[in-house]
Amino acid sequence: MSVVILDFGSQYTRLIARRLRELNAFSVVLPGDASLEEISRHEPQALLLSGSPASIFERTAPRPRPEVLDSGLPVLGICYGMHCLVEAHGGRLARGERREYGRALLSHSHGPLFKGLPEELEVWMSHADGVEELPPGWEKAASSCECSVAAAYALEGKAAGVQFHPEVTHTPQGTALLANFLDMADVRRDWTPENTLQMLLDEVRRKVGSDSVLLGLSGGVDSTTLAVLLAHAGVDHSAVFVDHGLLRRGERQEVESAVRPLGVNLNVVDAGSLFLDRLRGVQDPEEKRRAVGAAFIDVFEEQARRLGPFRFLAQGTLYPDVIESAGGTGAANIKSHHNVGGLPQHLGFELLEPLRFLFKDEVREMAKLLGLPAELRLRHPFPGPGLAVRVLGEVTARRLDILRRADAEFVAALREHGLYDQVWQALAVLTPARSVGVTGDGRSYGHVVALRAVTGVDGMTADWARLPHEFLDQVAGRITRRVPEVGRVVYDITSKPPGTIEWE
Ligand code: XMP
Repeated sequence: MSVVILDFGSQYTRLIARRLRELNAFSVVLPGDASLEEISRHEPQALLLSGSPASIFERTAPRPRPEVLDSGLPVLGICYGMHCLVEAHGGRLARGERREYGRALLSHSHGPLFKGLPEELEVWMSHADGVEELPPGWEKAASSCECSVAAAYALEGKAAGVQFHPEVTHTPQGTALLANFLDMADVRRDWTPENTLQMLLDEVRRKVGSDSVLLGLSGGVDSTTLAVLLAHAGVDHSAVFVDHGLLRRGERQEVESAVRPLGVNLNVVDAGSLFLDRLRGVQDPEEKRRAVGAAFIDVFEEQARRLGPFRFLAQGTLYPDVIESAGGTGAANIKSHHNVGGLPQHLGFELLEPLRFLFKDEVREMAKLLGLPAELRLRHPFPGPGLAVRVLGEVTARRLDILRRADAEFVAALREHGLYDQVWQALAVLTPARSVGVTGDGRSYGHVVALRAVTGVDGMTADWARLPHEFLDQVAGRITRRVPEVGRVVYDITSKPPGTIEWE
């Protein structure tokens, strides 16, 4: 049972999916021109048509298929989605000369979508075209000063459209409005964390049966949750944690002590010296990534042979990686950044991706239900190639050690000041620069460490975190005191774009 969201390319489509799930309604995003057969596979209870950067007046603009709109499913069109409904049912649209963008005040709002809401309502608009004449049998349900039809319904059946965006936070009552639509459509609202977990466990047990599963555990929240899920499902599994020697301080012990008691069959491989060997003399960032990736595959393959045979390879692929939508990148079965993603086909594994319908915060919910400690659940993302891309230039054991100690001081200080959870990611970088300083009576020539902390939601874009000056001051003192090899600490104030989060 689901709400199917047809995506016409709006930047907000994923947000609609999030909002519906917050309302405990399971939702999936499909391309705007999905066939009725494809939609039916998701057992839809209602349809939602997203907005679009296109105008309905463009001949090539994407449209839902006629049989989809004729299916009788309850439907809500948002912005461009509303234009599609109006056009399909015989109404008329007006080409917009200028965009109405930003806050607007609705007046005279009424009808089931606005149940329990005030007649005057603040909403967020972003459109140029608008409705000039409603289709026969439709009624206006709200207007704003710039827009005479801001919401409308079909008097028969369950179709409605809104010109504004209820899914964005700038429409303060937007979630209540979406909840009203779900009521109007009699959508089942049982997508609770407990039900979701049960569904995942059932799926894993059904798919795996008495076969066995191999899993690469990186220590990140996705693969760790997956490992515990397999253990909880009681299926035969082996989790392989490759300690490539490029981990942060205490990371390996943290993972081990969190997952072993939860029943994960964990195999830790000590491969630090192999990775250092392969990295010797490598300076170029892409070459480093390739060297780490290749070494990882060699180690993983060897473990697969040693522990196997396995039928399945489990991967922590999440929904944002698989959404195939007008605005998305298309179904990517394997996470592009994921090390295990590079495993050769000849190993012949079938993929098991139980988390493929979940968003990151839903995975964190599952992790909580499965008993993973908060430090692991709420951990910042960490790149597959680990500290290798944070030691600029050649990676040596000594330089890794300096970075690891500086990084640990920074992260510990963030935690102590309650700032860790306020940033998306925080890290230290060992630069190749050396700098002159004075310590005591002498002249020093120490390493330069850069600290980076960013805010953001998905790592695609990021802003540098405005950490308090007093805090930065304390951290600089702490690092130079406790890691004497470091002579200077700088703070990175570059956003992404144009910078990336990692330095390499
Ligand atoms: P950038 O540096 O591209 O990073 O702004 C965006 C996010 O991705 C992480 N990252 C990686 N993760 N393998 C990974 O698994 C990689 O090669 C890699 N490079 C960057 C980075 O930590 C940030 O969260």
